[in-house]
Amino acid sequence: MKDKLDDILKDFQNRVVSISSIQKLEDLKVEFLGKKGALTSVLKNLKNVAPEERGIVGKLANQIKVSINGEIVAKRAEIENNLVNEKIASEWLDVTLNSSKSQLGGIHPISKIQYEIEDIFMSLGFSVLDGPHIETDYYNFEALNIPADHPARDMQDTFYFDNGAILRTHTSAIQVRGMEKIKPPFKVIGPGRVFRVERTDASHEAAFHQLEGMVVGEGINVANLISTMKTLLREIFKKDVEVRLRPGFFPFVEPGFELDISCLICNGKGCSVCKQSGWVELMPCGMVHPNVLKHGGIDTEKYSGFAFGLGMDRLVMMRYKIEDIRHFHSGDLRFSGQFV
Ligand code: PHE
Repeated sequence: MKDKLDDILKDFQNRVVSISSIQKLEDLKVEFLGKKGALTSVLKNLKNVAPEERGIVGKLANQIKVSINGEIVAKRAEIENNLVNEKIASEWLDVTLNSSKSQLGGIHPISKIQYEIEDIFMSLGFSVLDGPHIETDYYNFEALNIPADHPARDMQDTFYFDNGAILRTHTSAIQVRGMEKIKPPFKVIGPGRVFRVERTDASHEAAFHQLEGMVVGEGINVANLISTMKTLLREIFKKDVEVRLRPGFFPFVEPGFELDISCLICNGKGCSVCKQSGWVELMPCGMVHPNVLKHGGIDTEKYSGFAFGLGMDRLVMMRYKIEDIRHFHSGDLRFSGQFV
């Protein structure tokens, strides 16, 4: 009986060396230790062994069972280890190899300049306000001193919805909304997209961008307006820029101005961009009309203010020397990729 047990162990040991898959190992385990396995049948026959040997044989059989189990565990670990090593060998990657370049997204040049200008104004103590694209007639016109049949409405060709709502034609619509929320003195800007019925060409788009500014306080005057504008332009263009004011008409400012800057392309000498005049029209502005302040619930005896509307698209075009406004909405990656 002892010999038989030794044979079983030897047999197992001979067979286990050549095994290289988990499945075959499982089969071998069943063959030796399973219910009908070689070792099990020996144990079952233990009752036929002479009683004085039974203890020894039983003990030996158990030892063999333990060693077979141990060898199976070791073999399993070996096979699993080999599998991992094979995978590492066949699937390794050289992470230092050049990969094909994927396109990176970027910030649109208009947003980029908008964020930059917001930062400049915030450093001057301004807050940034927002307003809806879809506006009421009241905020876009009425509250800005442009009553229903005022001819100034024709200056801004408006997109109307069936229910009388409109797409805002200028960021000035943010002015009265702002005054309803904040009490003077205050300094605010309101950047955003505006819409007008336009035949598009190199310098006109139906959707474009403005940045409204408004300062209200005691004793605010035209000198404050000019110095704020000069500071802004110096920050944007990184140098002192000469400015001039011409009279300009907007119902919501009195007096109203057109602020021109000396042409940065030709340094004021005259070129095709400034139509040989040496000046480029950049920013309408003026002292806020008392009627507008009143709509905002502000005491016009005590407070005055100035406002301006910066045309962002033109500014970005000047800054990057972009010759056609339609590039902005073209979705052409060759265009937008230059600003990443
Ligand atoms: N809202 C005016 C426009 O779009 C610009 C403007 C703003 C003029 C503020 C004066 C003061 O044309």
